[in-house]
Amino acid sequence: MAAVDVTVIDHPLVAHKLTALRDVETDSPTFRRLTEELVTLLAYEATREVRVTPTTVQTPVAPADGVRLALPKPLVVPILRAGLGMLEGMTRLVPTAEVGFVGMVRNEETLEPSTYAERLPEDLSGRQCYVLDPMLATGGTLAAAVRFLVDRGADHITCICLLAAPEGIERLTQLLDDLHVPCTLVLAGLDERLNEKGYIVPGLGDAGDRLYGVV
Ligand code: URA
Repeated sequence: MAAVDVTVIDHPLVAHKLTALRDVETDSPTFRRLTEELVTLLAYEATREVRVTPTTVQTPVAPADGVRLALPKPLVVPILRAGLGMLEGMTRLVPTAEVGFVGMVRNEETLEPSTYAERLPEDLSGRQCYVLDPMLATGGTLAAAVRFLVDRGADHITCICLLAAPEGIERLTQLLDDLHVPCTLVLAGLDERLNEKGYIVPGLGDAGDRLYGVV
């Protein structure tokens, strides 16, 4: 079984916003707004498997069968820092979701991730989790975050990224090869490659810096 199911969204609005996001001339406020808008569009596809329960409501005319989001609530997990810029776009579409946080930093020499902060429920049994990380570069950070959630009991993981490099997808797939829960990856674009510094090419540069400045 393939551990990671990858979907690249093919939609002119997504392509248009992604092009503007890549542009080096795009300032931080515009970059933040575009990121939120893109994530809302990606979230529509990413939540295709979100669990619902049947219900009936009374319209002004007659009873109508429908659905509500099932419990336990979906959990949205932005990976700090850059994933935070994606949160608003996700919760706009799924306002009842709960939000947990994982802080991960990539060592710029070894390119390996380490966790520096975490605020998540202890028990994620039966939870569908949506991990937000704009750039899937080497794949190490995202794989570590997914494992973290699965180790706590999450039984369905969807990762939402703006861009990925083929090397990152390959590594993510390798690192999660033994995963026993479904894992889906939804992207706005799949780029050419990683450069020697671990940046996605052509990419959009450092997503955290472009969202929040160089701090
Ligand atoms: N992280 C980023 O912000 N950009 C890249 O290109 C790769 C990792």
